[in-house]
Amino acid sequence: MKSSIFTWTASALFSLAAAAPGNGHNNNNNHNSPLYKFQQKCNRLAQSFRPDANTQVLIAQYLPTGANVTNPDSHPTCQGRPSTTLLADMCRLRLKIKTSATSEVVMEAWMPLDWKKGRYLMLGNGGLGGCIAYSDMAFTTWMGFATIGHNNGHFGLTGEPFLNNPAVVEDFSYRALKTVTKTGKKAVRHLYSTSVKKSYYLGCSAGGRQGLKAAQDFPEEYDGIVVGAPAIDWNALVASQAHYYKISGDPNAAGYLTGAQWSAMRNEILAQCDGLDGVVDGVIEEPRGCNPRFEELMCAAGQTWASHSCLTAAQVSTVRKFFEPMYGRDGNLVFPRFDPGVQPNSDYYDGEPPSIADEWYKYAVFNDPNWDLGAQYSLDMVQTTMNQDLYNISTWKDLTKLKQSGHKLLAYHGLEDPVINSENTYRYYENVSRSMSLTSAELDPFFRYFPIPGASHCWGGSGNWYVGATSQISRVFGATTIPTEGGVLMSMVKWVEQGVAPERIVGRKLDIPTGAQASIKLHCKWPKKNVYLGGNANAQESWGCQ
Ligand SMILES: *[C@@H]1O[C@H](CO)[C@@H](O)[C@H](O)[C@H]1NC(C)=O
Ligand SMILES: *[C@@H]1O[C@H](CO)[C@@H](O)[C@H](O)[C@H]1NC(C)=O
Ligand SMILES: *[C@@H]1O[C@H](CO)[C@@H](O)[C@H](O)[C@H]1NC(C)=O
Repeated sequence: MKSSIFTWTASALFSLAAAAPGNGHNNNNNHNSPLYKFQQKCNRLAQSFRPDANTQVLIAQYLPTGANVTNPDSHPTCQGRPSTTLLADMCRLRLKIKTSATSEVVMEAWMPLDWKKGRYLMLGNGGLGGCIAYSDMAFTTWMGFATIGHNNGHFGLTGEPFLNNPAVVEDFSYRALKTVTKTGKKAVRHLYSTSVKKSYYLGCSAGGRQGLKAAQDFPEEYDGIVVGAPAIDWNALVASQAHYYKISGDPNAAGYLTGAQWSAMRNEILAQCDGLDGVVDGVIEEPRGCNPRFEELMCAAGQTWASHSCLTAAQVSTVRKFFEPMYGRDGNLVFPRFDPGVQPNSDYYDGEPPSIADEWYKYAVFNDPNWDLGAQYSLDMVQTTMNQDLYNISTWKDLTKLKQSGHKLLAYHGLEDPVINSENTYRYYENVSRSMSLTSAELDPFFRYFPIPGASHCWGGSGNWYVGATSQISRVFGATTIPTEGGVLMSMVKWVEQGVAPERIVGRKLDIPTGAQASIKLHCKWPKKNVYLGGNANAQESWGCQ
């Protein structure tokens, strides 16, 4: 454990802390002031907080607004800014918790001085990681949530720690989250000497899967769970990465497309489908209704890509297969098709196997770093891994427990997602509906799904993608000036605390990175869809739900 964890020195910390009282009643030299007491209590957590023998305090320190925090264990693959600037005065607690003889999880609790509402928030992870979501934590702590982030049982966006250590896979599937949820609540109760009033979860992608794991198996822990682009039916999703890579990934194949050629195909698909919703704005409002004719982009005799930006028949065949669902050994659906209109992820044409599939199979499934996706992938193997379903990682159960708990789930998924096809979330919603024999009106009291047209994977996209979710706020400048009301997190808070269930989600079209706002659209709740009513397409009242 290194000690130099901050980008600033202890004396800088002191001077900033000493400067803080200037803004009002919180006099740092006054031992009765709330600030002083909070600081003392926080700094003493290393001695006072001992929830159990498996838990060790690594850092307990009061930090003021403006302090920069870096991750001492940051693995090179953990994305994000090198350091995160705090937006609120808070207590930072970093813990290491043993989850088995060969595994541990590292978590941080960022607990704001100003904790008026008693709200607790757990954030999720991404990919195969492994990274604590610092910038999201800074934001939600500023919003007043006592926020927990963790490494889901290993550091880094890599599967290497799974190698010959199934305990780390078990952490990744559910145990890390379950463990930090409980310990985080103890820490919050300990610091504030009062219980959590309402508990929330927010995560996207792999973090969406974690949230659904909680919704399916331990919903009692969260009053409200918000999941984006959830990586559910995990084994099938991973298999689909390998499957689509086999279709499009070989640069020496006659049917190979470069990134520029995929972009040309995307433009062709937009040309055919963008207007279906009545507005040509670069967004296909309902990709499910788009069934493009890819052959429109095929070269006539004598034409080439260089001369006419057209594709060969072999390339068009690749595109056609790429936008078809993946079927398994027995003809069963493994994974649904990509949304027409996505720009394929470079994973599928950069010549290297998609890292999540590659590393998941190597390290978690086969425990063989030499396992070769190119040579050893097969539909038999896919079926075997789906049946094996390590520690129930698939995360594909109905929501009987959630319904019984009386707690709530809000799912959203961008309809321009090139990483996890949105169709998978529709499929989950409908599966839950049939499994529980509940109509959507009957699901509404505890499960609502919002498709987000024009949104890419978790953040970005050509439409109104910003919904106040995890991994979005750090992409634009001035996120603290954007209203949080109507976004996915605060809609859930309103649902839980005021009983006002969300009918629509506020989506903002923001420029990256300036944050300049082009328009607002209110996204509809499935099975309703965004429909254009006429008038200025950038005005929110020009769109309704049908
Ligand atoms: C934190 O980082 C920001 C951006 O790098 C910098 O402007 C600021 O001075 C830093 N704050 C402290 C207290 O070091
Ligand atoms: C997986 O889920 C099944 C069915 O709920 C359960 O019986 C089993 O114990 C779980 N397995 C693991 C490893 O958690
Ligand atoms: C839900 O999906 C699972 C996994 O694909 C499947 O086994 C099950 O039959 C589905 N449930 C219904 C009611 O269709």
